[in-house]
Amino acid sequence: MGERQVKSKERVAQHGEVFTAQREVNAMLDMVQDETERIESRFLEPACGEGAFLKEILRRKLIAVRQQHGRRHADFEFYSILAVSTLYGVDILADNVEICRENLYQIWNEAYTADVEKANARLKKERRPAAERNNDLCRENVRFILSKNILCGDALTMKHADGSPIIFAEWSLPRQIQRKDYAFDKLLDGHNEQLSMGTTWTYDAEIDALVPAPLHEHAPCDYTRLTETDGEV
Ligand SMILES: C[S@@+](CC[C@H](N)C(=O)[O-])C[C@H]1O[C@@H](n2cnc3c(N)ncnc32)[C@H](O)[C@@H]1O
Repeated sequence: MGERQVKSKERVAQHGEVFTAQREVNAMLDMVQDETERIESRFLEPACGEGAFLKEILRRKLIAVRQQHGRRHADFEFYSILAVSTLYGVDILADNVEICRENLYQIWNEAYTADVEKANARLKKERRPAAERNNDLCRENVRFILSKNILCGDALTMKHADGSPIIFAEWSLPRQIQRKDYAFDKLLDGHNEQLSMGTTWTYDAEIDALVPAPLHEHAPCDYTRLTETDGEV
């Protein structure tokens, strides 16, 4: 079946609504291929319609997520949400906005559900109980992100129909946690006049005291791998 590029003559006349065919979408995105495959690169489709470009960018990013982070379900989940959070769109017609959000959600959810099933099959094979992750909560969060990223408004005036400004959310998903080990006695020294020699001190305004250099700075790591820092020297 051919692609539907026009919904009605009226919409073409009033809003210039002619959707871009997949072939052109692919050709244009191929010109910035590296960016479309970089999970955290941000894209804005300022007259997004049903999301012709955003959909394809999401597909490409999800392939990158699968290739780079497909070994652990927790990683796939995190990076696939990150991928969704980088996509922004505006359209003047509310029905297009709804369809665009839904299209992106379906593309993400199909990939996500496949990964959930893959993870559960792996656990079953290893005779381990399936992890009780809250997949539906995760789905809800993705819908929430899309409700903030794909907005109805005028991309020329940059306002909603009621005249309020279009506001985009920037999502940063800090996932790393860092462990630093301090000697108890040195920490107390920081409040004293007498400081131990041979230690580097930094002033911490929040506690109004000098803080010693940590004994060891562990490399920042994924929070789900925190216990692994115990194996480090
Ligand atoms: C040519 S279509 C392109 C849609 C989509 N980008 C694509 O490539 O399939 C133009 C879209 O811009 C929307 N549009 C028209 N005027 C607009 C404006 N001032 N602000 C935001 N969107 C607008 C229309 O509703 C329509 O969906």
